[in-house]
Amino acid sequence: MSFKKKIAVLGSGKGSNFVSLAKACADGTLPAEITLVISDVEDAKILDRAKEFGIPNKFINPGKYRTKLDATAETTCIKTLKDSGAQWVALAGFMRILKGDFLRAFEQKVINIHPSLLPAFPGLEAWKQACDYGVKVTGCTVHLVDHGIDTGRILAQGVVPVLEDDTSTTLHQRIQEEEHRLYPRTLARLFSNKIN
Ligand code: GRF
Repeated sequence: MSFKKKIAVLGSGKGSNFVSLAKACADGTLPAEITLVISDVEDAKILDRAKEFGIPNKFINPGKYRTKLDATAETTCIKTLKDSGAQWVALAGFMRILKGDFLRAFEQKVINIHPSLLPAFPGLEAWKQACDYGVKVTGCTVHLVDHGIDTGRILAQGVVPVLEDDTSTTLHQRIQEEEHRLYPRTLARLFSNKIN
C-alpha cells in the first residue's frame, strides 16, 4: 500500500500555490499525490497548470451564488473528490466558502493558506489590508478550514516584513514567495504527524 497521502487541490486563480505543492510532490519533499484539481472558474490558470503536470483537472460550475457552491455543485464536488480517492483537500486560492456537507465529508481534512498572520486580516486582499493598516510585519497562515471565514486551527505561519517602499503589489509578491515555501512544508509535517 502506498504511504503517500492523496490530496486534491481547489483553486479559482493562477495556481502558483498548486504549482509549489505539485513540485514538492514530484521531488519527494511532500510525500503525497495530487489526485485532482478542481476549479469553479472555467478558464482559471490553475487548470492549465494541472494539465502541465499531467494531473486530472475539472471545472465545476458553481451555480447561482457568488460566494459559495450551490447544492448541486457541492454534491458534484464531493463526489468527484471522493471518486478521485482524495483523503485531504488543499485550498489554494479557492474563492468560495465551504460549509456543511462539504466539511462533514472531509472532516478536519480541509486545509487553506491565507495571505496574512491570522487572526489579523481575514477575508479578501489581506496584503492590501496589511498595507493600509500600516503593520510592520505580516505573512501567511496555513490552517484547517472550519465553518468561519479564515478561523480554523492554525497549523503554521510564515512571517514577511513590510518594507518602507512596499506597495500592496510588492508585498503580495513576497507573501506569495513565503506561501510557496510554507504550504508544502506544512503539509509534509502534518502528514508525518509532526504537528499537533
Ligand atoms: C494566495 O495568495 C492564497 O493565500 C490566497 O489566494 C492566493 C492564491 O494564489 N488564499 P495562487 O492561485 O495560488 O497563485
